[in-house]
Amino acid sequence: MQKGPLRYEGKAKRLYESNTPDELIVEYKDDLTAFNGEKKSDQHGKGTLNNQITSLLFERLNEAGVCNHWVKQLGETEQLVKHTDIIPIEVVVRNVAAGSLSKRLGFEEGKALMFPIVEFYYKDDDLGDPLINEDHIKLLNLVTEEEIQQLKDLALKVNDILLEEFGRCDIKIIDFKLEFGEDSNGNLLLADEISPDTCRLWDRHTNEKLDKDVFRQDLGQVDEAYRTILNRLKGVGAHD
Ligand code: C5P
Repeated sequence: MQKGPLRYEGKAKRLYESNTPDELIVEYKDDLTAFNGEKKSDQHGKGTLNNQITSLLFERLNEAGVCNHWVKQLGETEQLVKHTDIIPIEVVVRNVAAGSLSKRLGFEEGKALMFPIVEFYYKDDDLGDPLINEDHIKLLNLVTEEEIQQLKDLALKVNDILLEEFGRCDIKIIDFKLEFGEDSNGNLLLADEISPDTCRLWDRHTNEKLDKDVFRQDLGQVDEAYRTILNRLKGVGAHD
């Protein structure tokens, strides 16, 4: 598949046109950023790992009936996706307290939550992606009330599938961020990526962090952590 013109470049991915108008090619970059782009690094091999991890998870979500934009993996760092208009809302699901929830509510990192919670953040770099509630979403006219409920239901369904998928390979999924888009027929599709860049993933037995917090908190080798996630998902060396 020939890559067409570059359409968009983000912090972790580039989006190219493909040879059909309804599909785009996503290229995963090695660049790693945190704290809204303030901390930066080039992690050789990260693009390949995140492309494979996202492809594997999106394929399983498709099989489980969660409609998403992923069509197929094309190469080491590329995948073909359906074109969607991204809704500017980051949907975060949390099973265990960590990160900004720990700060906001004073919960100790690692405290299991009584039930999974869903949060919405407004995707706006200038505003620093603020936490928003359903009234803010309606005021900003981002989606309808019915779609807010759909986003919540889909996010919790994805959580159930990821809990099972990661649970099988001895990984706890602490929290994660999802993005959704609408295709040309107005269908709501899960989009973007699901990778250690967008999830907190801890070893079930040791609580070792195997995600972007390794980079955020300078805990060790990012590529080793991400490779452990890929290998475990593929069923290679469940306890390495
Ligand atoms: O920082 P916070 O605790 O709110 O992050 C919750 C989850 O969402 C984490 O897994 C984090 O990696 C992810 N996230 C993300 N992109 C953002 C903000 C958070 O992938 N812009």
